[in-house]
Amino acid sequence: MIPLLLLLLLNNITLIASTVTITNSTSGRVSGSVELFESESDRAANCPTCPSHVTTYLDESPLTTANRVCSLLPPTVGGEDGGGCLTSLKKIISENQLALFIELGMKLDLHLKSSGVDMPSVEGKSFTYLEKIKLMQKLVHHPQVETICEVGFNAGHGTLLWLASGAKKVLSFELGQYTYSTKAISFLSELYPNKFQVIMGDSLKTVPSFHDMFPEEKCNILFVDGGHLYEHAYGDMGNFRSMRNESFHYLVIDDTNQEPVQKAWGDYRMQGLAKEEETVWSDYSEVLVWKEFQGRPIGVEVDGDSVVENWRSSMSYGVYL
Ligand SMILES: C[S@@+](CC[C@H](N)C(=O)[O-])C[C@H]1O[C@@H](n2cnc3c(N)ncnc32)[C@H](O)[C@@H]1O
Repeated sequence: MIPLLLLLLLNNITLIASTVTITNSTSGRVSGSVELFESESDRAANCPTCPSHVTTYLDESPLTTANRVCSLLPPTVGGEDGGGCLTSLKKIISENQLALFIELGMKLDLHLKSSGVDMPSVEGKSFTYLEKIKLMQKLVHHPQVETICEVGFNAGHGTLLWLASGAKKVLSFELGQYTYSTKAISFLSELYPNKFQVIMGDSLKTVPSFHDMFPEEKCNILFVDGGHLYEHAYGDMGNFRSMRNESFHYLVIDDTNQEPVQKAWGDYRMQGLAKEEETVWSDYSEVLVWKEFQGRPIGVEVDGDSVVENWRSSMSYGVYL
């Protein structure tokens, strides 16, 4: 049984899952029954009276937060995981971050829509694949993950997911073929100033030149989600190799269900250059179902935008060898 003190603490934190709202778009701070801050100094500056032990931070992994909070409890009331404090708290914080991402993702879509973007024409929409989102969150929550590099910014949903899940920094390489990318960049810059950079141009050229210019930039997650032709997927995997953090990284490939990407990932591994840890499959629009989006099931028009089909898509991850 979970002791009373711990229950109160967990309840207190659980509440924000349903009440997350943006109160200050420039610092990325959100409010609820527990405040979320960018850092300890942000908390001290903005809410000196908020107790730090019930405060979670946007750039902290759930494990770090859980460790900090649970270490304050004596083992008799659940500390040192006597009552499952770490496990419960980590789960709750992860769920809060998922809710935060979905909330912000919807706001991003509204922002794009109100800026005149024709939403059905937006490519990708990985925002709507729940299992992929969960995998990305699981990876970004690893305490050693700080910098994420990705090919394919598109409308910013992936970048938002990394940032809303606590990533300290995202470097995004984007061809820049869609005008809506710029609108998404403005939205994200308000929420996460100085936390992400979008490098425009063909990743087959920009990734190697970026690495030449900034050889000290190393990535803990390398997310390949740019051009889906064989040469692009294979080239991005190869070029990202030199940007990996050798002591800790994940290589993540989106859409490995698509034949050219699947072949590129297969060839890369067959050549002994990487190994796979896991592939997850997800149905399109699961998030909407998870959100009980007005109770409408997959395959039904959502907000007059597009007819949502029941597509399945996979995402794989592994490490460079
Ligand atoms: C599937 S979308 C990315 C979705 C995004 N990662 C997300 O999670 O929301 C693919 C993106 O890759 C970009 N792209 C395609 N070819 C590229 C290239 N050669 N270099 C850089 N970006 C490229 C496209 O412009 C598009 O924005």
